[in-house]
Amino acid sequence: MSSDRVRHPGLMNKVVSAEEAALLFKDGMTVGMSGFTRAGEAKAVPMALAERARKDPLKISLITGASLGNDLDKTLAEAHVLSRRMPFQADPALRKAINDGEVMFVDQHLSETVEMLRTRQIGPVDIAVIEAVAITEQGGIVPTTSVGNSASFAILADKVIVEINLNQPDALEGLHDIYIPTHRPTRMPIPVVTPESRVGLPFIPIDPDKIAAIVFTEKLDSSSTILPPDDETRDIAGHLASFFLNEVKQGRLTHRLQPLQAGIGTIANAVLHGLVDTPFHDLTMYSEVLQDSTFDLFDAGKLKFASGSSITLSEEKYHIILKDLVNYKSRLILRPQEISNHPEVVRRLGIICINTALEFDIYGNVNSTHVSGTKMMNGIGGSGDFARNGYLSVFVTKATAKDGRISSVVPMVSHVDHTEHDVDIVATEFGLADLRGLAPRERAPLIIANCCHPAYREQLMDYYRDALKLGGHTPHMLKDALSWHTRLSDTGSMLKDAETVAKAG
Ligand code: COA
Repeated sequence: MSSDRVRHPGLMNKVVSAEEAALLFKDGMTVGMSGFTRAGEAKAVPMALAERARKDPLKISLITGASLGNDLDKTLAEAHVLSRRMPFQADPALRKAINDGEVMFVDQHLSETVEMLRTRQIGPVDIAVIEAVAITEQGGIVPTTSVGNSASFAILADKVIVEINLNQPDALEGLHDIYIPTHRPTRMPIPVVTPESRVGLPFIPIDPDKIAAIVFTEKLDSSSTILPPDDETRDIAGHLASFFLNEVKQGRLTHRLQPLQAGIGTIANAVLHGLVDTPFHDLTMYSEVLQDSTFDLFDAGKLKFASGSSITLSEEKYHIILKDLVNYKSRLILRPQEISNHPEVVRRLGIICINTALEFDIYGNVNSTHVSGTKMMNGIGGSGDFARNGYLSVFVTKATAKDGRISSVVPMVSHVDHTEHDVDIVATEFGLADLRGLAPRERAPLIIANCCHPAYREQLMDYYRDALKLGGHTPHMLKDALSWHTRLSDTGSMLKDAETVAKAG
């Protein structure tokens, strides 16, 4: 019933069609939309905006939590609505528009966007468009499967459009914990002291007079694009599990480990899933995206509690979990991304952070975003928020990409997202290198021996040996440091001897 979903008595007269709501946008506006890794995005209004822009061109700066589902980033990019986009995306069509220079993409740490909006270093937000399960009696907005940046968008925007999604289960109400930090420099500590801490409200508190339009929708979230675990990701998970077991043996961790964070994507999901068959128990997560693996760990009795900013699931899991949400609800919290990723909380809780690299180098610098140093893949997301501040910062990747033509372990990364100072462990299917307490000259041989694909190992060792002859704290041959990437662009492979490509595949 729509009256159960819009409970504020004065707001039902704000209900309009998506097309009417789309008329509120003006050329040059900055728009904040809900949505975080394909979960909880507003669906009908952005679609109507794209439709409108096809006939009546206009451009906006679009800020979200993270990537949008339902092909919205694609649709908006193809309708040429986006002049500027931040802080994250993961869509091939938008990626192309970014790499062609049509859309100005600002690749930001996900915890920082709303801090910058709040202090007017970016913005201001003209309109916020937020998907909700309900509007409360007082006009509070109850988000759906993600919180992302929605709370601050709604609080800071001049006008708010609410999309009430009638198909998102009303059991979502009560899952969220909306806490907005106070102003700096007199800010109080953020009172999250365990993953379970509830410190805010279950809805976004705004002045209901700001709600300019309410649209009803029924479209569900898109399912995630991750692939199931394969032999290589299972091997990576195995190396990490052995490493954790050794940490327990050394008395540095217990079988409860520390709160876990796992990044987006197939590999991080598979690594977390790998904990299902280990002796670890009573685990907790303080993460950003809760993927299938979170619920696999719940179902296996391994996970006690999970805090995140969104729930992004495969199609099969989405239908099971959302139908059964009441059974998981007491073990879940969804928070604003500035809290799920907050450096203060990440450091306080001592999180084990597992994120994915496109490539890392012999000293442990990590590139998570730029293919061959120039082409944007998705963005840094929350990986930097966690990697710099965590208890243990782990980066995983398959040792090669594109049928062995690309080595993920290179002499020097072609773009740096995470410097060697922020990286404790790197792992591929071939092994793991524990970099803690090691100097660059100790790191390189370990990374080459443990993580590099055998087809590239000798080539990488040759580079390192030649670099050593030039000396330095971090030995490099600057003229050759990026030669693997230039060889890839010239010959289609990073291998010196192209005939051995098959061996690396
Ligand atoms: N050079 C070029 N392409 C590479 C590559 C490299 N060194 N390494 C991987 N790729 C390609 C893969 O071939 C694959 O291409 P495809 O989509 O055409 O098949 C694609 O990158 C994704 O790689 P995959 O191995 O499937 O891993 P993934 O799904 O786990 O994604 C990242 C890996 C790095 C792209 C993804 O984790 C990411 O965007 N990370 C940055 C954001 C982040 O870490 N957020 C975490 C906080 S939630």
